[in-house]
Amino acid sequence: MLKGRSLIEPMDLTLEELDEILDLADQIIAGPSEFADVCKGKVLGTLFYEPSTRTRLSFEAAMLRLGGSVMGFSSGESSSAAKGESVADTIKTVACYADIAAMRHPKEGAPKVAAMNTDMPVINAGDGGHQHPTQTLTDLLTIRSLKGKLNNFTIGICGDLKFGRTVHSLIKALSRYENIKFVLISPEELRIPEYIREEILVRNGIEFKEVERLENVMEELDVLYMTRVQKERFFNEADYIRLKDSYIVNNEKLEKAKKDMIILHPLPRVNEISVEVDSDPRACYFKQAKYGMFVRMALIMKLLGVEK
Ligand code: CP
Repeated sequence: MLKGRSLIEPMDLTLEELDEILDLADQIIAGPSEFADVCKGKVLGTLFYEPSTRTRLSFEAAMLRLGGSVMGFSSGESSSAAKGESVADTIKTVACYADIAAMRHPKEGAPKVAAMNTDMPVINAGDGGHQHPTQTLTDLLTIRSLKGKLNNFTIGICGDLKFGRTVHSLIKALSRYENIKFVLISPEELRIPEYIREEILVRNGIEFKEVERLENVMEELDVLYMTRVQKERFFNEADYIRLKDSYIVNNEKLEKAKKDMIILHPLPRVNEISVEVDSDPRACYFKQAKYGMFVRMALIMKLLGVEK
């Protein structure tokens, strides 16, 4: 039963619950008009202490397309956080006005603190370099919709695997499906955190390898998941500048890739994928952004306990 619960990280959902959300998203895609009023009278609070385009706007579009309403702030500076208000006090206040909230925060664990201070469902919309569970729902729906399944794949994840919260959440979620192999492609300094390697991959006996050169593994991949080097998480600008263009996928590099490989990216991109790749049929990152809205519609419905 998902009604009334918060979503802080992907493992908060059982595989069965994940399937329920993805199945509902499929139904919404098939007949969006049937869902146009299901959240009438409900209010979503979007509490974004960090910049966002896709997550905030897709949450807002999701609630609006379900017939509900939206309120919120798009930076900590425009809320009373700028005057020193705590996350706990903010969420207690928002719960007086809203039925459900999505929170993005630069501090890891902030949405969890919020969830512990209210009975209203709180959705983690990205906390620091930690987790981004609704991006994972987006990624799973995209892969399942475009490839027809979520098992028996070799998934290449490339870029900033250290700070990229979408990567951490995706590895956690995919590690529960059968016969998933990971090829983790990053510079030495941006390898996945130890806790993901040891507690998720090694502990569960999941096949993976860590490599530095994308070209050497391109032909093995069913999914290529590119990520941006996370400038905002670096302490030292010189390190960012040295690492930021470590990987740039272009048409030439894709020549060795499978014809049915799909290229995903949580976006925003900086230079990791050349614009020329956008017209390649394997480039699916804008479709992915659209799936993000549908899966958030399904999630909001489930957490509010509303049905068609
Ligand atoms: N994928 C994602 O989280 O994008 P935004 O930062 O634009 O929300």
